[in-house]
Amino acid sequence: MAKSVGHDYNEEFDYLSLKTNHPLSEALDTHGDGESLAKVGSAPARELIGAALNKRVQGVDPHDCEAGAEDAFFVADLGEVYRQHVRWTKHLKRVTPHFAVKCNPDPMVIRLLAALGTGFDCASKAEIEQVLSLGVHPSRIIYAQPCKTTSYLRYTAKQNVTQMTFDNSDELYKIKQIFPHAELYLRIFTDDSASMCRLSQKFGARMENTKQLLTLAKTLGLNVAGVAFHVGSGASDPEAFLRAVRDARAVFDQAAELGFNLHTLDVGGGFCSETFEDMAAVLGRALDDYFPPHIRIIAEPGRYYTSSAFTIACNVIARRTVEDPEAGSKSYMLYLNDGVYGNFSSIMFDHQHPVPQVLSTKRKPDGYKYCTDLAIEYSIWGPTCDGIDCIAPKWTSAETLDIGDWLYFEDMGAYTKCSATRFNGFTDQHDTIYVSSEPGTMEVVGM
Ligand SMILES: Cc1ncc(COP(=O)(O)O)c(C=O)c1O
Repeated sequence: MAKSVGHDYNEEFDYLSLKTNHPLSEALDTHGDGESLAKVGSAPARELIGAALNKRVQGVDPHDCEAGAEDAFFVADLGEVYRQHVRWTKHLKRVTPHFAVKCNPDPMVIRLLAALGTGFDCASKAEIEQVLSLGVHPSRIIYAQPCKTTSYLRYTAKQNVTQMTFDNSDELYKIKQIFPHAELYLRIFTDDSASMCRLSQKFGARMENTKQLLTLAKTLGLNVAGVAFHVGSGASDPEAFLRAVRDARAVFDQAAELGFNLHTLDVGGGFCSETFEDMAAVLGRALDDYFPPHIRIIAEPGRYYTSSAFTIACNVIARRTVEDPEAGSKSYMLYLNDGVYGNFSSIMFDHQHPVPQVLSTKRKPDGYKYCTDLAIEYSIWGPTCDGIDCIAPKWTSAETLDIGDWLYFEDMGAYTKCSATRFNGFTDQHDTIYVSSEPGTMEVVGM
């Protein structure tokens, strides 16, 4: 294994260890170590979220309110974001997370993560602007878009956001012209066949092309500083990380032969809360096997940080009774005030299957609970005129749901609000009520 030369990035690693001893972290970590903190999670958090949901819906009478007062709304638990961060630093100590803003650019989430010391993966001018506006240093941002808008590239040069990815020769010529001193990470192709959202069909240089790209970068006098990959969003095969790390190692070696001094590996996103420890174990081992400690390792997690932190409540705006006299059956179509053109865009773009749960019915005004008795059959639809606007084609509940009742959906914090549209004139601006199941986080974000 060839070692990459020069550059002492210990400064970065000091920064990482500083992060967990950061005064803010101390203020927040009321439970001592990360482990006990992670265990606190669910029960008190669910109660807190339930209370916030109920308080809001009890203050709205859909039969007598201002137009739009019954709109769907989120409850965000910032304590959950904080717990995910603690979990990350425990299991991937060596890897500095750069939160993928595209996943959920919620201002309080960004503020909290900025205070916790993460970096940020930005895909556009607006995302870079949002992060910089919080006083985050440009060196904590990576413009992780291999095919950049030329005018945005001029903007990043002006803002001194130097880290960025590339994966093709045309981009290298563009960068040479506009930002020749940028720090470049060569994004490589991965086997993302076991991921929910495949990205390598669009991005990533094939291994057979990497040498040619590095040679061109050398000829142009550009500064290639590292390698990046993404195993696909919603990854399920930990071995994909191992394979990608091995390929990245090969590119580091190619680069060294050409006289580059690569110092950073960016392992991208793809992490899910449910499988995080398994993924982290394989990735952590691969990193230690293939990359010596002086190589800086960063990542671009999105979904992992925010998915479980957001719950949405939606109102039943209409109901259609469907009777089948031959079968003697009766079912209902429920129409909600949010759907696939809104915050449930994750159904279309992110392959999600949000699970409806009853928040409150006329019969049970505070019935925030899981329904286990399977009885009445429903299908659940969004508010637009389009037939594809379906949230759940089949759902059963013991509750009789009617117009004005409320449903809620958990795990709605990734690739939801950020890809909502205003199709049919419905709003894409839904309120978020912030709570925190970890003391200290609200103060950190100034609430
Ligand atoms: C370049 C890049 N980095 C990071 C992410 C975040 O991925 P995830 O939410 O799976 O962690 C994405 C998602 O599309 C991406 O395209």
